[in-house]
Amino acid sequence: MKKFKRYLVTSALPYANGPVHIGHLAGVYIPSDIYVRYLRLKGEDVISICGSDEHGVPITIKARQEGVTPQDIVDKYHGIIKDAFRRLGMSFDIYSRTSSPMHHKTASEFFLNLYGKGVFEEKTTMQYYDEEARQFLADRYITGTCPHCQNERAYGDQCEKCGTSLNATDLIRPKSAITGSTPVLRETKHWFLPLNKYEEFLREWILEGHKEWKANVYGQCKSWLDLGLQPRAVSRDLDWGIPVPVEGAEGKVLYVWFDAPIGYISASKELTPDWEKYWKSEDTKMVHFIGKDNIVFHCIVFPAMLKAHGEYILPENVPANEFLNLEGDKISTSRNWAVWLHEYLDEFPGKEDVLRYVLCANAPETKDNDFTWKDFQARNNNELVAVLGNFVNRALVLTDKYYGGVVPEAGELQPYDREVLGEIPKIKRSLEENIENYRFREALRDAMNIARLGNKYLADTEPWKLAKTDPERVRTILNVALQITADIAIACEPFMPFTAEKILKLLNTEKLGWDKLGAWPLIEAGHRLGKPELLFEKIDDSVIDAQLLKLENTKKANQAKEVRHTEPQKEAVAFDDFARMDIRVARVLEAEKVAKTKKLLKLTVDTGIDKRTIVSGIAEYYTPEEMVGREVLVLVNLEPRMLRGIESQGMILMAENAEGKLVVVRPDEKTNPGASVG
Ligand code: MF3
Ligand code: ZN
Repeated sequence: MKKFKRYLVTSALPYANGPVHIGHLAGVYIPSDIYVRYLRLKGEDVISICGSDEHGVPITIKARQEGVTPQDIVDKYHGIIKDAFRRLGMSFDIYSRTSSPMHHKTASEFFLNLYGKGVFEEKTTMQYYDEEARQFLADRYITGTCPHCQNERAYGDQCEKCGTSLNATDLIRPKSAITGSTPVLRETKHWFLPLNKYEEFLREWILEGHKEWKANVYGQCKSWLDLGLQPRAVSRDLDWGIPVPVEGAEGKVLYVWFDAPIGYISASKELTPDWEKYWKSEDTKMVHFIGKDNIVFHCIVFPAMLKAHGEYILPENVPANEFLNLEGDKISTSRNWAVWLHEYLDEFPGKEDVLRYVLCANAPETKDNDFTWKDFQARNNNELVAVLGNFVNRALVLTDKYYGGVVPEAGELQPYDREVLGEIPKIKRSLEENIENYRFREALRDAMNIARLGNKYLADTEPWKLAKTDPERVRTILNVALQITADIAIACEPFMPFTAEKILKLLNTEKLGWDKLGAWPLIEAGHRLGKPELLFEKIDDSVIDAQLLKLENTKKANQAKEVRHTEPQKEAVAFDDFARMDIRVARVLEAEKVAKTKKLLKLTVDTGIDKRTIVSGIAEYYTPEEMVGREVLVLVNLEPRMLRGIESQGMILMAENAEGKLVVVRPDEKTNPGASVG
């Protein structure tokens, strides 16, 4: 194992075009804060870097929609995000922003360094231009019909229906998402980072050198590398961002994904004049905390930039998480389907650690996970209150009752006491292993196991029954229980810093370092404790119901919003063409998920003429049970297609509902299998 002298920990810079929600926290910020708090407790040299990502097209679109400047937008959200992070106890050493002068300078210089080395390729290409908005359009801001599947809402970079990646110029009937007008093609020059030239280096560095990375991260890198890397433009035609610092680049800025990761460097410079020690010495361990949608930028693009520059170290690990859903649905900013951090902090004062605890215990470390308010309540009531809070409270209340809040002198330890205390160094080793390998859920379970151990110890020894008969034994038991309480204060600090502080206050003790975990004694006999106080309180059903109602109202509001689907009418067809389509009512007889896919259901349907198999992309919207027995409309004479090795004989007709989900179209009244539609 390489020994590192210091740590440089970065957390993905949130876009300053909206507040932070629980998905961001569970995916990136909670794990990152646990990691750096742990390192600091161990006395390591660590800096934790974050800030707002304030460039990019979405910010300019939002500004346009709200009739304000992009600067207004980022000022507003930078403030909201920074403040919410602080209130949650996020312990960044700096929370900067990419509109800062230091960042503009740093990013420009970085570009110029690569430019001077002749790293970039210059290319003139044809790009769509919106004449009404007077700007070039980013791929995401062009919609049109997919040439492969005829989906009318494909984006300029990808069709989300059939998954094909597209060029904006592939789209049929392109439309600007900004003004709705038809864009025109114009010539424009851009600078490209030739990722293809770094492919070999990246393969070696990641696929050979970092087999220890999380499977989801390694797997994504491998599939990118196996597809082959292409040059990527690092500039954009836009008037918001960092101007491309060379001649002939008027109206062009650095692509947001070029400047944003450099933001980690700029923020480090703002933090300390010693920043180079962190960024440029091989004995620094750099770790990027990100969500899974950021993997390619942190594992491929940014490392290629750092490599091209030549003076910087590369990340040692990039422990990206998967996504967190909310009550079974994907978190969505535009549909307001989220628990917003700043709202949580207002609505649950003093419960910062409850959120930190639940999001860590349920973090989407290896797969997408679901946040539900019921689970939030259960974890608070059954774990924080019943396990952690209960133990600490009993230790303190008993000491208060029998010894007036003064730590009693321990008599001779019995074998059982030694056995219990001997568990703590073992738990400590497991905790360290887990945190150092980015398994924070497991680590949190370890920390809680100390409280479980304490509860069991008190339940087994029952000091309250011995007060009269064996006072010396009671002194020993409570002394041991108080030592365990101090251990808990250390072990839970990375996860629940507010709680750790409260426990220290209850113990009337200064902060204890990580090396003290499992040491004896942590608190001397004769030491006076603080006043006992509860660490956690139960959360009532009414509180949870109020949150569920709030989400229910969001759903209703979304459904009430009428969206008009205004894709232009398709070309006229002759009646005969229509008549050639054989559409029939069918009944679903069986349904099952297609293994290893998220979207596909395999259905057996009765079409009146036969029973056949149809594979349909509706698994995200219907469970197999919901489909069985349903009447559906099927295009029965569609040419059979192979999908995931299964022959699909026909297509089920679907439409998008008000929430943007696909729903099956069905007859208004009872019909019979085989009834023809037309
Ligand atoms: N703003 C990006 C996002 O929220 C993350 C940027 S990370 C950085 O997905 F490396 F670019 F800073
Ligand atoms: Zn398509």
